[in-house]
Amino acid sequence: MSPSFDFDRLVDRHGTASLKWDRYQGRDIIPLWVADMDFASPPAVIKALQARVEHGIFGYTLPPAALEEAVQTILKEDHGWEIKREWLTWIPGLVCGLNVTSRAVGGPGDGVLTFTPVYPPFLTAPALAGRTLATAPLRLGGNRWEMDLAAAERAIGPTTRLLLLCNPQNPTGRVWSEVELLEVAALACRHDLIICSDEIHSGLVLDKNVRHIPMAALSPAIASRTITLNAPSKTYNIPGLGCSFAVIPDSGLRRQFREAMNGIVPHVNLLGFTAAQAAYQEGGQWRSELIDYLRGNAAMVQQAIDGMPGLHSVQVEATYLAWIDARQTGLENPAQFFEQAGVGLSDGGPFGMPGFLRLNFGCRRELLACALKRMHAALADHAGRQAESTSGMHEGDKGKIKKGIQP
Ligand SMILES: Cc1ncc(COP(=O)(O)O)c(C=O)c1O
Repeated sequence: MSPSFDFDRLVDRHGTASLKWDRYQGRDIIPLWVADMDFASPPAVIKALQARVEHGIFGYTLPPAALEEAVQTILKEDHGWEIKREWLTWIPGLVCGLNVTSRAVGGPGDGVLTFTPVYPPFLTAPALAGRTLATAPLRLGGNRWEMDLAAAERAIGPTTRLLLLCNPQNPTGRVWSEVELLEVAALACRHDLIICSDEIHSGLVLDKNVRHIPMAALSPAIASRTITLNAPSKTYNIPGLGCSFAVIPDSGLRRQFREAMNGIVPHVNLLGFTAAQAAYQEGGQWRSELIDYLRGNAAMVQQAIDGMPGLHSVQVEATYLAWIDARQTGLENPAQFFEQAGVGLSDGGPFGMPGFLRLNFGCRRELLACALKRMHAALADHAGRQAESTSGMHEGDKGKIKKGIQP
């Protein structure tokens, strides 16, 4: 069947106060950094927003019952997870959810554990809540990133209360398997930790051989110690509309979470509700075609990175983000280097892993190809200059360096 949606269509984002594009306003730098995509949202979402705007009254709005039912349906159909409506709490964003959770669990000075590299707010939320952060590393085991659970166990102290988990994982693109999730859950049970599972990328699993499993779907006992955060914002490209939710089955934990929000966290705006409902109810076909398109982009990135001297990455299982090891390039500041070459990537430092880069491939393939070409050319030039500067080097060695650079 031929696709119904055109992800190659250029939608000019200049002049829209786009965070992603305005960073490089007036400069020829392709923005592949912050995690939003350059695609127009599903037509059904745009139509629902237009109808809501046409109504003309934008008063305080309750979470629509039809939206809550749509969330129940999508979690059940996509991940086999049955949730009750009363488990839902609506929040304007997941960063807000991570910060509320950090305040809701434990007390001043208590510990929060997470795995690095990770989306930077995981690393900043605990301190903002007066908590102490401990980290354990993810490490590359063959061709995939894995959690170092022994290191996690060592990082847990007597005052550790909370584990912040990212699944699917930003930035490595891993979708944690059932075995891995059960191991993490067992660790949390042993140390009586609350788990906060950020599942914002769960609608974007690209690898046909893996499936997303919500942490709280593993067992009622695990669910009772889990706060799950999710949103339609990444999947349907509506992050600017600020509509997200927490799923908290345990009534005591839910009360704690809501108390931490009280008087501080604003209502979700009504256009966010409208877009979320249309996305979940009518965005299925669009999402499935988006995933096909992203698979093509992911393969293109992987192939290009494999051909670039000094860069290394592994195929992502989910998300539109590639995590690239640039340490072998010998570049002091890889993000700055590629920015100067006309490609804006995220620096690995704030993710807890300097020397790495994150590349957002949620864009038109033509633009992506252009960015990858620029990266390749810049690296080839850099390697060439390096080879020249090694003047004392044997002629044969110089040749080897040059051969590593593929056009
Ligand atoms: C893992 C993860 N959590 C949260 C967010 C941000 O969520 P929000 O915009 O809803 O605050 C992102 C955005 O990139 C993310 O990747």
